Amino acid sequence: RKALGREVVPHTTRLPPPRVSSCCSVLRRPWSVRPQAQLRCYSSAAVCSSPIPEITSKFPEITSYDELYKFSVNQPDAFWGALGEQLLQWQRPFSTVTQHDLSTSTFSWFHDGTLNAAVNCVDRHAEHHPDRVALIWEKDEPGTEQRITYRELQSEVEKVAGVLQQCGVKKGDRVAIYLPVSPIAVATMLACARIGAVHSVVFAGFSASALASRIRDAGAKVVVTADSSKRGGRVIELQKVTREAVALCQDIEYVLVAQHSGAPLQLGHKELDLQQAMASITGSAPPSEQGGEDPLFLLYTSGSTGQPKGLVHTTAGYLLYTAITHRLVFDYQPGDVFGCVADIGWITGHSYVVYGPLMNGATTVLFESSPIYPDPGRYWETVQRLRITQFYGAPTALRLLLRYGDEFVKKYDRSSLRVLGSVGEPINPEAWRWYHEVVGDRRCTVVDTWWQSETGGIMLSPRPSAPDAPVKEAHPMRPMLGMTPLLCDAEGHQLHDVEASGALCIAGVWPGIARTIHGDHKRYQDTYFSPYPGFYFSGDGAMRDSEGNYHITGRMDDVINVTGHRLGTAEVEDVMMEHVDVSETAVVGCPHPVKGETVFAFVVLKEQVSSSIEDISKQLRADVKKHIASYAVPEFLLVTRGLPKTRSGKVMRRLLRQIAKGDHDDLGDISTLADPSVVSDILDKFLKMK
Ligand code: PRX
Repeated sequence: RKALGREVVPHTTRLPPPRVSSCCSVLRRPWSVRPQAQLRCYSSAAVCSSPIPEITSKFPEITSYDELYKFSVNQPDAFWGALGEQLLQWQRPFSTVTQHDLSTSTFSWFHDGTLNAAVNCVDRHAEHHPDRVALIWEKDEPGTEQRITYRELQSEVEKVAGVLQQCGVKKGDRVAIYLPVSPIAVATMLACARIGAVHSVVFAGFSASALASRIRDAGAKVVVTADSSKRGGRVIELQKVTREAVALCQDIEYVLVAQHSGAPLQLGHKELDLQQAMASITGSAPPSEQGGEDPLFLLYTSGSTGQPKGLVHTTAGYLLYTAITHRLVFDYQPGDVFGCVADIGWITGHSYVVYGPLMNGATTVLFESSPIYPDPGRYWETVQRLRITQFYGAPTALRLLLRYGDEFVKKYDRSSLRVLGSVGEPINPEAWRWYHEVVGDRRCTVVDTWWQSETGGIMLSPRPSAPDAPVKEAHPMRPMLGMTPLLCDAEGHQLHDVEASGALCIAGVWPGIARTIHGDHKRYQDTYFSPYPGFYFSGDGAMRDSEGNYHITGRMDDVINVTGHRLGTAEVEDVMMEHVDVSETAVVGCPHPVKGETVFAFVVLKEQVSSSIEDISKQLRADVKKHIASYAVPEFLLVTRGLPKTRSGKVMRRLLRQIAKGDHDDLGDISTLADPSVVSDILDKFLKMK
């Protein structure tokens, strides 16, 4: 990888282009950034008029939202300390709110307090409201949902915890979870928390080798899976994939298999029947007393280089941050049914399917199906049947659904909805308006929420805010309380003009931030704190309008976002480079009207190859599917005689991105290329490929 070299792309090149090419409609960016005046503002339902009584009752001098925001950023100890005292249940109270050292990128929140995450998410609610529904499991077939109360969830958590202990899992041990969105998955996450183990949920769409590399990196000795699951009517063979993965991981001692399909389990080497083992557990061990900074979970996410990184989230700060953002951004009220349709394999599932809602004692929906199963009305039929009050999903699904027309929405009663959330990628104005006007009947507040696996919870969102503050379409707009976003230019200077565009950074620290990368603190420092010293660097570019509203323009690094899934282009290149016939590759993202971005691979073959270009292309696609996942498979694969490189040998990725986008009219200065003729070769092949 080093030998190939990577050009340092000034961030401004990642900002949306002023125009789009007319070459190919499929490649056309589905949204260009509109002149600001064309984006509308809406004054929607007033929410959060008194957002935090825990603060305002203690600090009565705060009488407006503006004052509250200023207080939260100017007095973080007082702000987060008051919330930490009141929103978390402590075994031993904390005396220090936060300590941080930017020079070593170390941060701690409530480190000398002790608590247990499962007690906070389940036991305390089970004590006061045992019969309140904690989970509504929306299975693949509509109308087959199951409700699980807090009392039932507590019992499940205790039993799984008992089984894990019988398998020798102790405090600090890592447990891999490869399960579909289901109550047993939630119970397993919380069972780990109950005994102080660290869960590492791996998205159940990842391949065996992706699962294996995550198990090995985490050093897990136990993996929890299911026999198989169904999504959109399609069977996913989880146990089979887990077996293949475990064959690559010598340290795995036990594979706990949950029966999910309904068929009798077939157990093999190292495998135990999870439900049978749970049935033999009587009584429960007391919950482990965890330090505020003890790790709660690892979550692997893609970076611009090398292997996915295992972000480490710790206990108290993460719980507090997800609880407060869930409550304030979505105007959560007791009795609501919160419907976040993310998979638990991603951070959105961790924070807003599991931890945030359960911290608030909410009823949370576990959506195991697909937006178009059995038809494109599935989301809205579910909203009607479950009386969902807040719906939280990804723009890629909205873009897909709006193509099927409004009838699939309108035939269902959506009067229960109050807030509609969007997450994972930029939402284009057309999808935003459809969400607001068709799904929400212009009644609901639409919150475009920007955040990341690293931030733990929502960072920018139109709410909370002053109750009458307008909502600007397709903009995450405002910082969450306690947050100070800022923009920097390519030289690393902060941009002080209100209207600006640059690298999106955050000043100060917040409780939800991931504390490190498992086993590689240097990578953590280098990625997030070295590029703009003194600030956290998000990796995203953003624009700020004259009123100070933020709009995200996309990644500035070699990370792309395919159907809302984050993918490092280097991961795909690494897989393709393993092929015997491949000499070089470069992978870029290219705009796609539904997926947001899609994978475009440029491949250079060796002089002597073993088969035809068609066969090699097929093999490369199969390799990527096998080693990563289906969403990472290149949609476009162009075999070329060379890659455009500078004389110093760096691949000019900017040029490849432009070509992939179909934006050929002005390729900029290519005179510095070692061999400019490769560009015409690539262009020729590109046009033939279309
Ligand atoms: O590029 C941003 C995009 O998703 C990235 C984070 O991906 P991940 O860690 O997988 O977390 C996704 C769910 C929080 C960001 O760096 N992104 C996320 N939300 C938005 C977004 N881009 C634009 N607008 C958003 N609302």
